[in-house]
Amino acid sequence: MPNIDANGIRIVKRFQPIARVSVHRTKLIHVLINVIKNAEAALATTPVADRAIAFEIGRDPQGRAVLSVRDTGEGITAVNLAQVFSHGFTTKPTGHGFGLHTCANAMVEMGGVITAASAGPGLGAAFTLTFGVDAGAEDAGSRASDATAATDDPVRPSSSAGAAVA
Ligand SMILES: Nc1ncnc2c1ncn2[C@@H]1O[C@H](COP(=O)(O)OP(=O)(O)O)[C@@H](O)[C@H]1O
Ligand SMILES: [Mg+2]
Repeated sequence: MPNIDANGIRIVKRFQPIARVSVHRTKLIHVLINVIKNAEAALATTPVADRAIAFEIGRDPQGRAVLSVRDTGEGITAVNLAQVFSHGFTTKPTGHGFGLHTCANAMVEMGGVITAASAGPGLGAAFTLTFGVDAGAEDAGSRASDATAATDDPVRPSSSAGAAVA
């Protein structure tokens, strides 16, 4: 990703072994591109030394495969967090607000779910893709906007602007 290199964004990868998961390759790539582009945009106002995106693969407490993308960017207010998956919601002057809505639908089509978390403005954001969720048993809309803060946070808020990746 040339932009990521040019913008001095540090990439952190933490991959734990997981069982094989069935995904739609093109849809998953589409979801990741959207989430990574958003993270990159959110890092524009973060001091270069603090810019980081952490990719983590692992399992949630239920044993489901999880892929999270966590940035040290501008963060998301609690009010906005509840809307980020809504069609047309954007805080960008030239944004469309379609990206995350499409991501949420694509994840449900793959039998998964995407959730968002942020400790607030200036404290970064995390988007978590969970696979192997029984899509038929859940209301996709409410799950998509379900914003649960992750524990064991690898990108911890710091007292200065941005956040640090441990
Ligand atoms: N990594 C992120 N950090 C902070 N805010 C984010 C992040 N990802 C998404 N958002 C918020 O969610 C909104 C919706 O994102 P998206 O659906 O991709 O539309 P767009 O990128 O066109 O605004 C963004 O405008 C922004 O307010
Ligand atoms: Mg977007």
